[in-house]
Amino acid sequence: MTTSATTTTTPTRTAARVVDAVKVYGSGDTSVRALDRVSVGFPAGRFTAIMGPSGSGKSTLMHCAAGLDTLTSGTAHIGDTELSTLDDRRLTLLRRDRVGFVFQAYNLVPTLTVAENITLPLDLAGGKGDIRDDEWIDALIDVVGLRGRLHHRPSELSGGQQQRVAVARAFAGQPDVVFADEPTGNLDSRSGEEVLGLLGRTVRQTARTVVMVTHDPVAAAHADEVVFLADGRLVDRMTSPTADKVLDRMKAFEVPS
Ligand SMILES: Nc1ncnc2c1ncn2[C@@H]1O[C@H](COP(=O)(O)OP(=O)(O)O)[C@@H](O)[C@H]1O
Ligand SMILES: [Mg+2]
Repeated sequence: MTTSATTTTTPTRTAARVVDAVKVYGSGDTSVRALDRVSVGFPAGRFTAIMGPSGSGKSTLMHCAAGLDTLTSGTAHIGDTELSTLDDRRLTLLRRDRVGFVFQAYNLVPTLTVAENITLPLDLAGGKGDIRDDEWIDALIDVVGLRGRLHHRPSELSGGQQQRVAVARAFAGQPDVVFADEPTGNLDSRSGEEVLGLLGRTVRQTARTVVMVTHDPVAAAHADEVVFLADGRLVDRMTSPTADKVLDRMKAFEVPS
């Protein structure tokens, strides 16, 4: 195994990590070991891609790291908080205040405008002044390039624009980490490139953290680092990825059908 991560010069804080993560779905003969003792950290202020073939455990890893699902054994941490120590209410608050999500389906509210969709999580949080930062939201609108679309409804936008709204919504509360699961899965390659460029820019311009699940080498190449999963295990990491390098690495895992 090659581990280029050890050559990183500046020590970085970990925005999210799992230690010895095991996830078993079901029980008995039909059980599936989706994660098999995975330990991986996602450095703060960086864009990390989780890459692997379909069924390798990428979404499971993301869901458990983000507190959307629980591990069978091992621990998941957001910053210094170990998720299993939180009761349901505190876990809900942590997801709301410290984590952002982008999914393949944009999951916008059709009856709300772009502006309302972006601030929806903050408005649901009860309008506490300490959560909402209007200057940040305003800057974010420019980063995602939606200034001219703020009063449109999602149905009046292209898929790429809708996903850019979802990206802005994910970052609106200045979360410690944004998790994205196949965020370009529904987009044509040009819109996909826009959204990936946007994720990368947001990380670099605002020192935010993104962890993105993808099976697409072109998408993974936008990240600062790629971690590879195969059969529920972490098998490699790669810094400064290119689509060709990622594709080459993936070919080793793919079993031709
Ligand atoms: N809710 C579930 N119940 C049972 N098996 C599941 C469930 N979710 C995922 N799996 C299985 O766990 C393995 C990993 O799935 P997943 O994390 O979705 O992989 P990926 O995102 O890399 O495609 C697969 O074998 C999948 O079939
Ligand atoms: Mg998946």
